[in-house]
Amino acid sequence: MRISFLEAVKMIKNGSVVALPTETVYGLAASIHQPEAIESIFNLKNRPRINPLIIHLANFEQISLYVETLPINFKELVDFFWPGPLTCILPIKKKSIHSNVTASLSTAGFRIPSLEITRQLIREVGPIVMPSANLSGRPSATTAEHVELDFGLNFPVLDAGSSEGGIESTIIYYDKSEWLILRQGAIPAEAFTSILKYQPRLIEKNLEKKPLSPGQLFRHYSPLTPLYLNPLENESHYSHILGFQERNYSHSKQFISLGSLYEPKGVAKNLYANLRLLDQKHSLGAWVDMDFPSFELWKTIAERLNRAAEKN
Ligand code: TXA
Ligand code: MG
Repeated sequence: MRISFLEAVKMIKNGSVVALPTETVYGLAASIHQPEAIESIFNLKNRPRINPLIIHLANFEQISLYVETLPINFKELVDFFWPGPLTCILPIKKKSIHSNVTASLSTAGFRIPSLEITRQLIREVGPIVMPSANLSGRPSATTAEHVELDFGLNFPVLDAGSSEGGIESTIIYYDKSEWLILRQGAIPAEAFTSILKYQPRLIEKNLEKKPLSPGQLFRHYSPLTPLYLNPLENESHYSHILGFQERNYSHSKQFISLGSLYEPKGVAKNLYANLRLLDQKHSLGAWVDMDFPSFELWKTIAERLNRAAEKN
């Protein structure tokens, strides 16, 4: 159900959950002051309670409601990247945020979205929490239709067309003496070097250690359709090929274009829509052409496809 800006404001203030657009992906939004609405986000998504939510702010000043000490280079980073697809994990003041947002951690994730309508709404209702608007484990939603496919036609969505970025925010964390990347995202690792004078290290999933980001533990971005990333995959396993417009593939398979090898932004923008398309077409399986560059946004695209192809 499409709702207007004013309806979205009213519903969030009254303690409902609504889906909102952002420049990365659509999110399921609740006021940070409505613990019951926050609780229902976990139920709606079937999201593990130990996976914390990102707090979305309208301006920099709101940070001081929750955070006392800011890590080194934080100000420079957010002056450069906010509003935009950067989430910073920061140590929070005790009891300043309900434990169902933070999963009882002593930190929380913050970002200021760059989509104007989203920020305007946060200005009206105050800070909101907002995970991606998809059933837990499935590809994120980048259109209002995707939200309705996961949560039903009656679910309230503020429709602003398809999300420009198409991939979630990059998550960073300052640990001891350096900034680390906890989730690759719309801002590539290389983009931080002009400010930090080093490229932040990516912290990969390590099953022996407690993860710095609980989200690493769970299945993510996966369509129901099995994905095959191996170049030598047995052809009888799949009916579709996800590939690039510049290349020719076997004519015996149905081709879905990921976009151009020269336009990673376009590939990112449509990535989840393409993964969702496979399920809509009841695909037997899809072979994915992983032969693309391995720098900047391409790295995030490869990571999302690798995660999407994981069996559990
Ligand atoms: O682009 C985005 O970030 C989107 C849009 C809607 O803003 N939101 C989003 O939220 O991707 P979600 O909930 O799907 O992913 C949030 C990730 C999870 O992997 C979670 O574990 C991690 O952020 N996270 C949240 N708080 C954290 C914390 N205090 N420490 C470490 N990781 C945290
Ligand atoms: Mg998500």
